[in-house]
Amino acid sequence: MNPRVIMSGIRPTGTGAAHLGHWEGALKSWVQLQEMGECYFSIVDWHALTTEYQDVKGIQDNIRQSLLDLLAVGIDPEKSVVYLQSAVKEIAELSLLLGMVTPLGWLERVPTFKEQQAQLSDRDINTFGFLGYPLLQTVDIIIMKADTVPVGEDQVFHLELAREIVRRFHGLYGDCFPEPQPFLTPIPKLPGVDGRKMSKSYDNAIYLCDSASTIGEKIRPMVTDVRRKRRSDPGVPEDCPVFVLHKAYSKGDEIAMVDAECRKAGIGCLDCKGILIRNVNDFLEPFRQRRSDYERTAVADILAPGNRRAAERARRTIEQVRGLMNV
Ligand code: TRP
Ligand code: SF4
Repeated sequence: MNPRVIMSGIRPTGTGAAHLGHWEGALKSWVQLQEMGECYFSIVDWHALTTEYQDVKGIQDNIRQSLLDLLAVGIDPEKSVVYLQSAVKEIAELSLLLGMVTPLGWLERVPTFKEQQAQLSDRDINTFGFLGYPLLQTVDIIIMKADTVPVGEDQVFHLELAREIVRRFHGLYGDCFPEPQPFLTPIPKLPGVDGRKMSKSYDNAIYLCDSASTIGEKIRPMVTDVRRKRRSDPGVPEDCPVFVLHKAYSKGDEIAMVDAECRKAGIGCLDCKGILIRNVNDFLEPFRQRRSDYERTAVADILAPGNRRAAERARRTIEQVRGLMNV
């Protein structure tokens, strides 16, 4: 694939701050794609409202955290257009216009619609806005005329719907948009500190913004291979979440050493974790540095140039759409 225009979005919700799972599963590929095309990365605050409209207190802080995460991992606002969805009013206009041509049934059969309603049973998301979530996502993408959308497996259906809406629009009014393709990032099999999949909801995640001492506090009590009850019991590294993290964040020679020494009880789990703590901290250090470089700058100042560039591009698209739709 040869991506030209790349677009993706991050939802500034309560499940906000990015952890290593988000880095492996999404952000890493965003950073790589910056070198491969014109990138549009959006903090999609209207999407956050679809599920959080009842409690909007935290949203500005979540926007700030999402932005700092993007900058920390190396999304460069000079290279990429980093912008706030709600700063681009053309997105709302195109949503309304595309709403005219999007059959209700297409939205109702999006699997995440029913799934999320069941999962988030504590709130009422039987709303027009939530039903329109994938339509709004379609608009995010096509208003930038993006052809490539880095997302996880869970978003494939949304992209299919986006292409269907695009084809319907083209059938009615004439060609206007590329058909956006997903750029799939493999689902990371990164364990959290309790050995289950790393996830905010399990409270087992290592966050990109964790301090060096927090990393130690989280990794030291980690579960290990159950065979290593005593220091002298040999273990099987493949059965240990600490080892999985070593494979992601330690160098080849250290991984090989841990692999060999664990099997013959040559290394204790605490020492093994000590090495991992150092390596995770070395990995996160440049993230912390960049985060602190930006921390004192106001969100609005960081976003202003990106908001402007995104709005300009959106305006050109919407003018074309209005021409085609005669409104
Ligand atoms: N739905 C995406 C998610 O849950 C977020 C999103 C909104 C998005 N708009 C987008 C992703 C546009 C890619 C492109 O992660
Ligand atoms: Fe896990 Fe390391 Fe202990 Fe082996 S030595 S069980 S890899 S923590």
